[in-house]
Amino acid sequence: MGLEEFIIRTYEGISDRAQVEDLERRCEVGPAESLFLFTDTMGDPICRIRNSPMYKMLVAELDNELVGVIQGSIKVVTVHRHPPNEGLAKVGYILGLRVAPCHRRKGIGSSLVRRLEEWFIANDVDYAYMATEKENHASVKLFVNQLGYVKFRTPAILVNPVSDHSFRISPNIQISRLKIEEAESLYRKYMGTTEFFPNDIDNILRNKLSLGTWVAYYKGDSWGDFGSNNERVLPTSWAMLSVWNSGEIFKLRLGKAPLSCFIFTKSWALIDKIFPCFKLPTLPDFFNPFGFYFMYGLHQEGPLSGKLLRCLCQFVHNSAIKSKDEYCKVIVTEVGGSDTVRLHIPHWKLLSCPEDLWCIKALKTEGTNSLHELTNNPPTKTLFVDPREV
Ligand SMILES: CC(C)(COP(=O)(O)OP(=O)(O)OC[C@H]1O[C@@H](n2cnc3c(N)ncnc32)[C@H](O)[C@@H]1OP(=O)(O)O)[C@@H](O)C(=O)NCCC(=O)NCCS
Repeated sequence: MGLEEFIIRTYEGISDRAQVEDLERRCEVGPAESLFLFTDTMGDPICRIRNSPMYKMLVAELDNELVGVIQGSIKVVTVHRHPPNEGLAKVGYILGLRVAPCHRRKGIGSSLVRRLEEWFIANDVDYAYMATEKENHASVKLFVNQLGYVKFRTPAILVNPVSDHSFRISPNIQISRLKIEEAESLYRKYMGTTEFFPNDIDNILRNKLSLGTWVAYYKGDSWGDFGSNNERVLPTSWAMLSVWNSGEIFKLRLGKAPLSCFIFTKSWALIDKIFPCFKLPTLPDFFNPFGFYFMYGLHQEGPLSGKLLRCLCQFVHNSAIKSKDEYCKVIVTEVGGSDTVRLHIPHWKLLSCPEDLWCIKALKTEGTNSLHELTNNPPTKTLFVDPREV
């Protein structure tokens, strides 16, 4: 079958919605033998990109049937060593690439990516990038071997289940919610040079999915008195994070469980039944749709800030219990592979992914040198993962 037999066009909300959702249900992401997650977009397949400054969804159609889909978004971020505009670059993020199982290896996936790249180029994008599981060989081969993407960063996705039991927060620690303006100014000051920091951080913080930004510091220290230069004086040690309610727009569901996962789940329930005194955290039922909170903008300052960051994560966990959102089953975050904040984030290894793979490609010839430097120098420790791209 030749390339000319399918057409690629922009997604039409009303007429394509059902077919795109059906396609998503039929597509396993990742290697066939492992666990995979279905995304339930609850009647709005474009919901994962809708909150970005610019976005586009394309579909591939063959004989009136939708056989492929791809999404992309554009924004301005900090990219080190990008010469013009003082380290700011326009980046295009590629996500949600799916081709119907019976139409794979016919060039549909690569054509969808190329058409999205054309849209990026028409909008002056410097770099296109995408994230995938390292073991997703089809995806890695498609992007790296065929389309010229380069392996770039390997952030860690950390997942913690929401259990029935609240954490006890140390009485010596004060947790306060920041106003949006203050959160924005702190982020620009302390994370503005972090790789992939979004220039429109204010849009993220003001979005209705952003539940708020909190700081933690030791009682006895004061937060934010104004100093002589009219700048806030911050405590020696402090930590901050923001929370995004991803479950509000889409739900996840586990697709296939290898035997080891079933055995683990059964043994866990059995131990809990025989020894209730152990107070084991409840293992959520991932086979039914569940939502999650995504923690972003995690930052710590000062020698004693690790404990503060941990307390903030525990506070988010307790808030998830209190929210009475029966669907919020896990707290998720994604941080740079060698970022020290990682050490203080409570997570379950079993549910987490130590190395997600990000691949990048320069779309302008003058970006090629910067890309060479970016990918050949050791990664910066910190990486800002935008909650709109989860
Ligand atoms: C990954 C995916 C989109 C590829 O779509 P596709 O239409 O089959 O891709 P193409 O036909 O354009 O393949 C182009 C090249 O990619 C590589 N490739 C694609 N699928 C591959 C596979 N299963 N194994 C090895 N290489 C593969 C090959 O180099 C292929 O060229 P070739 O067929 O000439 O050898 C498709 O397998 C899919 O929908 N998978 C499930 C969802 C998913 O994992 N999406 C990616 C998330 S980032």
